Amino acid sequence: RIVEIIGFPMDLGADRRGVDMGPSALRIAGIEKRLENLGYDVIDHGDLQIQHRAQQKVIDTKLKYLDEIVKTGEVLANRIQGVLNRGNFPLCIGGDHSMSLASIAGVSAYCRDKNKRLGVLWVDAHPDMNTDQTTPSGNIHGMPMAASLGYGHDKLTGLLGFSPKIKAENCALIGIRSIDIEERKTIIDSGLEVYSMSKIDQLGVYNIMQKIIDKFKGNVDHLHVSFDVDSLDPRFVPGVGTPVAGGLSYREAHMIMESVAESGMMCSLEVAEVNPILDVQNQSAETAVEIVASGMGQIII
Ligand code: ARG
Ligand code: MN
Ligand code: MN
Ligand code: MN
Repeated sequence: RIVEIIGFPMDLGADRRGVDMGPSALRIAGIEKRLENLGYDVIDHGDLQIQHRAQQKVIDTKLKYLDEIVKTGEVLANRIQGVLNRGNFPLCIGGDHSMSLASIAGVSAYCRDKNKRLGVLWVDAHPDMNTDQTTPSGNIHGMPMAASLGYGHDKLTGLLGFSPKIKAENCALIGIRSIDIEERKTIIDSGLEVYSMSKIDQLGVYNIMQKIIDKFKGNVDHLHVSFDVDSLDPRFVPGVGTPVAGGLSYREAHMIMESVAESGMMCSLEVAEVNPILDVQNQSAETAVEIVASGMGQIII
């Protein structure tokens, strides 16, 4: 099996600087070697070109850097579609989570073509269900899940010319512990299944993942996993722009990805929000690489 890595050094979707160094940090943490050790052939395409913040202006404070995010997002979406059409596994490394708008658009376009039903597992402290109407920050990394479901500004929802990209009933969110007041309304309206940290405390990650995978098994042909590293507790991942206390333990994060691997359903993966500038000794990227390995089938006996 061939894994094609695409770096997306996007930092226009978030306020904290430095997340554009995420792809580099993940490479330095040895992501390619780790996958090769698991038996994959790896092609690393390097990073896509994204204009620097210094070259940009904020035109709309409710949708900061919209144009460049959409423009580069379209490039990423097409690249991912290409990888899937070659029969390979795309691994996108970010970059802030606005990347997801594009990765899900690309995966969805592919699934549409091939008549496959798309499911998304969203692992995150945040649901990223804001729109330009509800955003408290204007940061587009708080919007990709909403946009993929068809909520929000046309330029975001309309990437690649169709909307919605996913159906709420084929998605599951896990690790969630920070929801904005207005954002909550969109979540309720959408009918999304949200497994918050308190649900994890009650039921345990293993039981929840069995439930999620069971649901996917009957309804989904292509599972896309979007892993925002701030889903983990900041103790394990200090290098993130929007840390929230009370997150996944190291083992819980692995359990999620081990369950994904065991299901055999994952056909595309992305890792977002690694910010080495806020980090200690590249710890966050190293942890992220471990977690990717678990998702890709690493088993510790
Ligand atoms: N909900 C907040 C906002 O809309 C934070 C979003 C954080 N998203 C992320 N991908 N880290 O600004
Ligand atoms: Mn190699
Ligand atoms: Mn996120
Ligand atoms: Mn997050």
